[in-house]
Amino acid sequence: MEIVYLDGAFLPADQAKVSVFDRGFLFGDSVYEVIPFYQGVGFRLEEHLARLAHSLDALQIPHSDNLDEALNKLVAQNGGGNVSVYVQITRGNAGKRSHAVTADITPTVFACCQPIAPIYETGPEVIEGARVIVTDDLRWQRCDIKANGLLANILAMRQAHEAGAAEALLQKEGWINEGSSSNVFIVEQGHVITPPLHKGILSGTTRALVLELAQQHGVQVTESNISYERLIGADEVWITSSTRGVLPVTAVDEHLIAGGQKGPLWLQMFKLFTRYQQGLMTGESL
Ligand code: PDD
Repeated sequence: MEIVYLDGAFLPADQAKVSVFDRGFLFGDSVYEVIPFYQGVGFRLEEHLARLAHSLDALQIPHSDNLDEALNKLVAQNGGGNVSVYVQITRGNAGKRSHAVTADITPTVFACCQPIAPIYETGPEVIEGARVIVTDDLRWQRCDIKANGLLANILAMRQAHEAGAAEALLQKEGWINEGSSSNVFIVEQGHVITPPLHKGILSGTTRALVLELAQQHGVQVTESNISYERLIGADEVWITSSTRGVLPVTAVDEHLIAGGQKGPLWLQMFKLFTRYQQGLMTGESL
């Protein structure tokens, strides 16, 4: 039986219970993270916990002590290995339904694990180019907070799946912001471009790593707004996330990107990314 973490306890999933008056359940008054662990080691754990702190601070939800220790223990109790850890922190159980927040509520902290395939063991040849659609970004104005209210993301992803696509890129006021659960990059004449951080997008940990790796290895990168025309005219398009890594996009709506082929800069970035992951596993300096 899978072991989950709830408010300081490690227990079988079917014994973990949350109150019906929990504000996470009633209002979606909660934030979350999805953190990959490879061979039991958290990947960019510090960066995920820093983003979690940003989300909590933005909503004035108190932080939990020693969360990194609890997550490492949770992964170990589930046999280590390759898992994505889901952490959700709600404002807590107020004992009644009321919009108003009182300061004396203790946050509910929940975490569980789910097996994932380690991207660094995958050869680039088996990665298939993804098809994505572009749809309206119906989300609120604080997408920098990793909040659990994901209805707009879920509707967009459903639209993508109905169109046989792997992701929906979200467009607002003429700009492509990001995917429903990923960040977006394009390549123009050897130059990597991604939208700048603002409150309309999530500061992706994979996005940050791709920017770091590009800078370290002399790949030109710019943070700049991307229009639909620029997207479909790009030499390459990628999406990035903790669970998907750096994924090549070979079609946007009915438009093929790079004639439907995975691009050379994607291949370079994929190799840098997987080498970085391998280095982390073996403890080599990077
Ligand atoms: N989502 N943008 C959005 C809206 C996201 O939901 C995610 C991740 C990202 C990429 O962030 P990162 O590289 O830190 O995973 C960007 C996770 C995987 C999820 O909701 O399951």
